[in-house]
Amino acid sequence: MHATQVTDGIFRLSADASDLLFEAIWPIPNGVSMNSYIVKGEKIAIIDGVCGWDGVPETLYAQFDEMKLDINDIDYVVVNHLEPDHSGWLETFKTMRSEFQIITSEKGKPLLEAFYGITENIRTVKTGDTVDLGGGRVLAFADIPNVHWPETMATFDTKSGTLFPCDAFGSFGALGDAPYDDQMSDEQLAFFENEAVRYYSNIVAAFCLPVQKALKIVDTLPVKIVAPGHGLVWRKNPKKIIDDYRRYASYSKGPCKDEVTVIWGSMYGNTELGVAPIVEAMEAEGVKVHVHNVPEAPLGDILASIWTSTGVVLAMPTYEYKMFPPVAAVLDELGKKKVLNRKAFRFGSYGWSGGAQKELEEIVTRHKMSWDFLEPVEFKGRPSASDLEVLKDRGRALAREVKAMVAAAPVIE
Ligand SMILES: Cc1cc2nc3c(=O)[nH]c(=O)nc-3n(C[C@H](O)[C@H](O)[C@H](O)COP(=O)(O)O)c2cc1C
Ligand SMILES: [Fe+2]
Ligand SMILES: [Fe+2]
Repeated sequence: MHATQVTDGIFRLSADASDLLFEAIWPIPNGVSMNSYIVKGEKIAIIDGVCGWDGVPETLYAQFDEMKLDINDIDYVVVNHLEPDHSGWLETFKTMRSEFQIITSEKGKPLLEAFYGITENIRTVKTGDTVDLGGGRVLAFADIPNVHWPETMATFDTKSGTLFPCDAFGSFGALGDAPYDDQMSDEQLAFFENEAVRYYSNIVAAFCLPVQKALKIVDTLPVKIVAPGHGLVWRKNPKKIIDDYRRYASYSKGPCKDEVTVIWGSMYGNTELGVAPIVEAMEAEGVKVHVHNVPEAPLGDILASIWTSTGVVLAMPTYEYKMFPPVAAVLDELGKKKVLNRKAFRFGSYGWSGGAQKELEEIVTRHKMSWDFLEPVEFKGRPSASDLEVLKDRGRALAREVKAMVAAAPVIE
């Protein structure tokens, strides 16, 4: 990995990570990049850092050498966000150089002490505050609380119009040494758009209101470049990722795309018999269908597809008077991630008492998910031919309602 120049006086240092679960939960099949930025005026600031995972800070330090940047020349470390994926290197960095000043938000200060025992050389800033690096380079700060933690802030270089929003506008996907949107083909940009949805739905989803508040601030700034803490740096078309995030934030409450996500689990194949017929019926109506079998499917994949889906089908049997547990666990997580207002349908098999339906209603109510369900279909044991016909009817009805909701929704750029 090499340091690259973002624009005059601004450089991106980065490390890619893979083969790990992000936040110890989320698989990152295509890796993730962790970006850090050097901003040079007469004084030098480093904005954001990288995690302390094995080999990662060393990758960053090697890039200092490559840039012929003496670590002792760094005057400011701007900590936009204290989550250790960005601040984890601070401890080792401090052992290498102790005199720099840390710039962070007011809520960041106690976290610096809590995580790293750092109590000195901290300057707290709030929205509207600036730091003059000299040479016409002024950094301005804005609190963007809860994107992703309460202390999060964004930094804006007024000279170049570069926004450093840390987790906001980030995406998964390792980038190597070609991290700029202007270096990507349309195909690569489409790939990274999926990685942005995966990142948003897995990491940021629970914070859509704070994202919308942050977007209001960003809309007032003359942003020319978006340089996030993860993923692509947007130089050619910064509006793209800003508008994408506006759409992703709106997907919490829906409507989203002409898509349906099917989440199904089945012990002995009875519920499963209904899956293919309903999927075919929905596809025949022209909606895209994502199918996930639990518990095998990673929750991260399910979230990524449901985030863009206006419709949901849940299929599971009754298990010990409740929902088949892996589907219940996924539904509970969807509630926590604020997957709201979906058009939905549930079907499944039971043996004697049923009970899955009741628990489903409990979970949806508890999380105030406001899913609008078609009438459920339950069958005792195997589904009959007429049960399967009813399922297909429901699939067609769901697909049509999804299309109507999307068609009636206001367009969000
Ligand atoms: C471990 C276990 C627990 C079950 N608990 C219930 C139950 O509480 N109430 C009920 O009506 N059926 C119960 N059943 C029956 C299943 O719901 C029924 O066999 C159903 O057809 C399974 O669907 P599947 O083949 O899609 O897994 C249970 C079955 C198993 C294996
Ligand atoms: Fe974070
Ligand atoms: Fe992060």
